[in-house]
Amino acid sequence: MTRRDNLPGILRIAPSLLSADFARLGEEVAAVVDAGADLIHFDVMDNHYVPNLTIGPLVCDAIRPYAKVPIDVHLMVKPVDALIPMFAQAGASIISFHPEASDHVDRSLQLIRSLGVKAGLVLNPATPVSWLDHVMDSVDLILLMSVNPGFGGQRFIESTLPKIEAVRKRIAATGRDIWLEVDGGVKADNAARVASAGADTLVAGSAVFGAGVPYRDAIGALRRQAEAGRAEARHAIV
Ligand code: DX5
Ligand code: ZN
Repeated sequence: MTRRDNLPGILRIAPSLLSADFARLGEEVAAVVDAGADLIHFDVMDNHYVPNLTIGPLVCDAIRPYAKVPIDVHLMVKPVDALIPMFAQAGASIISFHPEASDHVDRSLQLIRSLGVKAGLVLNPATPVSWLDHVMDSVDLILLMSVNPGFGGQRFIESTLPKIEAVRKRIAATGRDIWLEVDGGVKADNAARVASAGADTLVAGSAVFGAGVPYRDAIGALRRQAEAGRAEARHAIV
């Protein structure tokens, strides 16, 4: 392990509602916020960009009174622009999209920011980091997928780890506080590696809602593991 001096101080846990009980969504949101969630991760799927269909702006607006933390909207839709103002209106604090799903990536990022929302770009496991080349000034968040998007409960793809390190280096080079979020298959047993590679925001669906333990324990375990991994990486000898 190499010593890492570019790791962020903040760590955020973002439970993904995809694995929540949709019949009791407001209660589920309130419960994870009470249990220590830093963000609510809100997965939007359109049965076109990804082979699944989930929730939209009406549901985002409906959970708003229960979400005392920022709502982190992950758009897995194509095209993206028409939905951006609707989610801004529905209370999103962050809106992220996949660059392959937008005809004009920079325009979509600017549109998000013009509405006072943080703009994020999402890279699939096979999407190269070079998509970031000309937009680093326009992003507030980079979301690295560690599964192929479309479903919760999939296995973490290990090749994401060097990608996290590469993106963390790019972020450090900007000197800006761009968030680095990782989504898919994140569990207590890999959270240390994800955080020590440079992620500051961990999305977890099945590891929170499907863990079979109180949400506070599930979120606490993720946070503890992530913080331990990061501390070890910081102090490791080169
Ligand atoms: C997958 C979604 C993820 C998913 C994560 O397309 O973007 O947010 O819900 O679920 P887990 O943590 O179960 O992989
Ligand atoms: Zn997601």
